[in-house]
Amino acid sequence: MSETMRFDDRVVVITGAGAGLGRSHALEFARRGAKVVVNDLGGGGHGEGKGSEAADRVVAEIQAAGGEAVANYDSVENGEAIIRTAIDNYDRVEVVVNNAGILRDASFAKMTDSDWDLIYRVHALGAYRVTRAAWPIMLEQGYGRIVNTASAAGIYGNFGQANYAFVKRGLIGFSNTLAIEGARKGIKVNVIAPVAGSRLTETILPKDVLEALKPEFVTPLVVRLCAESSTESGSLFEVGAGWVAKLRWERSQGACFDPKAELTAEAIDAAWDRIGDFTGAQHPTTIQDTFGPVFGNLGITP
Ligand SMILES: NC(=O)c1ccc[n+]([C@@H]2O[C@H](COP(=O)([O-])OP(=O)(O)OC[C@H]3O[C@@H](n4cnc5c(N)ncnc54)[C@H](O)[C@@H]3O)[C@@H](O)[C@H]2O)c1
Repeated sequence: MSETMRFDDRVVVITGAGAGLGRSHALEFARRGAKVVVNDLGGGGHGEGKGSEAADRVVAEIQAAGGEAVANYDSVENGEAIIRTAIDNYDRVEVVVNNAGILRDASFAKMTDSDWDLIYRVHALGAYRVTRAAWPIMLEQGYGRIVNTASAAGIYGNFGQANYAFVKRGLIGFSNTLAIEGARKGIKVNVIAPVAGSRLTETILPKDVLEALKPEFVTPLVVRLCAESSTESGSLFEVGAGWVAKLRWERSQGACFDPKAELTAEAIDAAWDRIGDFTGAQHPTTIQDTFGPVFGNLGITP
């Protein structure tokens, strides 16, 4: 198959690009002609320490392959400095991949305030700050591609990851809203929930599985979502090991009660099977899809 998705002269910012998924994204965007800002704080997997080696190593790899890249060592909490690196070196930014991440797993009973705060700061505040700094530039140029990195934990929940699940699900609502706000300005925003062998998964997956779950199986979807030709926006994908799938909401037809009469818990209990019956289910995609049945029950056309 011929390679149609090129990024020549495009500037791509990838956070947490010193290892794992981010490194794989950085190498592939650079191979396809992009000028890449390789951001990485270079600390440990639980948010401790920092260093320049991780980002430098990936920049060197890109340059050795004939590509163009510059390192940035800021924490994503300092998103403005990361975007400034793009502007100072390349004068523009077209693509942002919010990927940096750490884990602070603990059952909720044992989770400390610092476990909660650190996960919030890296995944939520970090994605916000980087995106917030790039957003006016994208609005002004009428073009942008953003991919945020969520997790199956955020979609489904996972034992020991209340902090992580909270922020990862938050990124989905964040992306959906930016997809709406960016629609008329050529900005496409999507979310992925990847599975890959990396420092973050090395303690929970067996070695042979880790080796098979190459980050390189996730990167092509990110590239596809960031391509100039892509019209996809506001979507969520699960991806890993060569499997790519799109998710959507499913809503039962629900039960309607007389809005002029008193509604009781017992009446809801009596309709419980109907409320949870997915026969003839709908697939809402906008907030207006919520107003439909709500106003419909009142006999009002919104
Ligand atoms: N690997 C998986 O199976 C998996 C599953 C679901 C979600 N994710 C998400 O994918 C993303 C990448 O994870 P990975 O598996 O490649 O892990 P990784 O540890 O290999 O890479 C994450 C990188 O982010 C960097 N980083 C951490 N905090 C940072 C900060 N404050 N500022 C800048 N850089 C920072 C780290 O130094 C590291 O190089 C994360 O957001 C993670 O939550 C991964």
